Amino acid sequence: MTRNFASTTASLSHEELFRRINALKKEMNALVLAHYYTLPEIQQIADIVGDSLALARAAEKTDADVIVFAGVYFMAETAKILNPGKLVLMPDARAGCPLADSCPAEEFRKFKAEHPGALVITYINSTAEIKALSDITCTSSNAEEIIRQIPQSQQIIFGPDRNLGGYLAKKLGREMILWQGYCYVHEEFSESSVLNACREHPGAELIAHPECREEVLRHAAFIGSTKALLEYTVNSSAQTFVVATEPGIIYEMLRRSPLKTFIPAPKDPGNPRTLCTQMKQNTLEKLYLSMLNRKPEIMVDETLRLASLGSIQRMLEMSPA
Ligand code: 13P
Ligand code: SF4
Repeated sequence: MTRNFASTTASLSHEELFRRINALKKEMNALVLAHYYTLPEIQQIADIVGDSLALARAAEKTDADVIVFAGVYFMAETAKILNPGKLVLMPDARAGCPLADSCPAEEFRKFKAEHPGALVITYINSTAEIKALSDITCTSSNAEEIIRQIPQSQQIIFGPDRNLGGYLAKKLGREMILWQGYCYVHEEFSESSVLNACREHPGAELIAHPECREEVLRHAAFIGSTKALLEYTVNSSAQTFVVATEPGIIYEMLRRSPLKTFIPAPKDPGNPRTLCTQMKQNTLEKLYLSMLNRKPEIMVDETLRLASLGSIQRMLEMSPA
């Protein structure tokens, strides 16, 4: 029965998929969460669209029976760690985060052993195994707030994103031991490409996510998480922005400021990857089918869940909403 439904979804219009998803939301008491980098139609159907921190908080607080996470794997995994009793689904569980995957637990364990006594703060873009090896998890929204609470004398290991780590180290004037991972989407913006875009759009403000390289960040009028960038564009008097992050966020920027102009920061011609292909794996059809079939379900082994929960809870305690 379910298979027959599945085989016919390709011909369904967005409107029909919206109707069916909305009906399933009610029937299942489900909450659909979506990251700003997902496709516009996914952002339209989601109950909550947000950055990594807002979505983790929403997952922590919800009384829904089912969480459907349109994002990447570490996000749904974090939701499951916080909600062991709930059904957590992803439209496509193969949507991983290459940054999270660039930090294998065995190598990180050795890295950590080389710096005994260091406090381990890791970006939420990491696996549950890495969170289990960490003292505190953070996102780009609250990393600064969390690190400011750590005494200056305390050595810190920060991973896996070297660009976010380098940005924080410079901003806070403290050395940190950095894991050398990076996000391929943000790494590929270059100084010359963003400066060319700014020259082509005189008066435009360059805004950048801290996962970008320092050569880009140093020219930015504003640096922040996806949510902070969004709020900045609403409040700034500038009318045009060159946006150095994944361009999926521009959908919400335009929705909030329809009269402003948003230019996706270009990549170098030799490096044309502009999108997070993993985030775009969340299609409306897959979202519908995941709800209909109640899979793929995200599962976390209970020992691992308990080991990783502490660092996530510490994050939530250290950066109350
Ligand atoms: P934020 O949502 O925390 O800004 O992070 C961006 C990102 O790369 C999500 O994968
Ligand atoms: Fe991972 Fe980068 Fe995609 Fe975010 S944008 S999910 S960090 S690959």
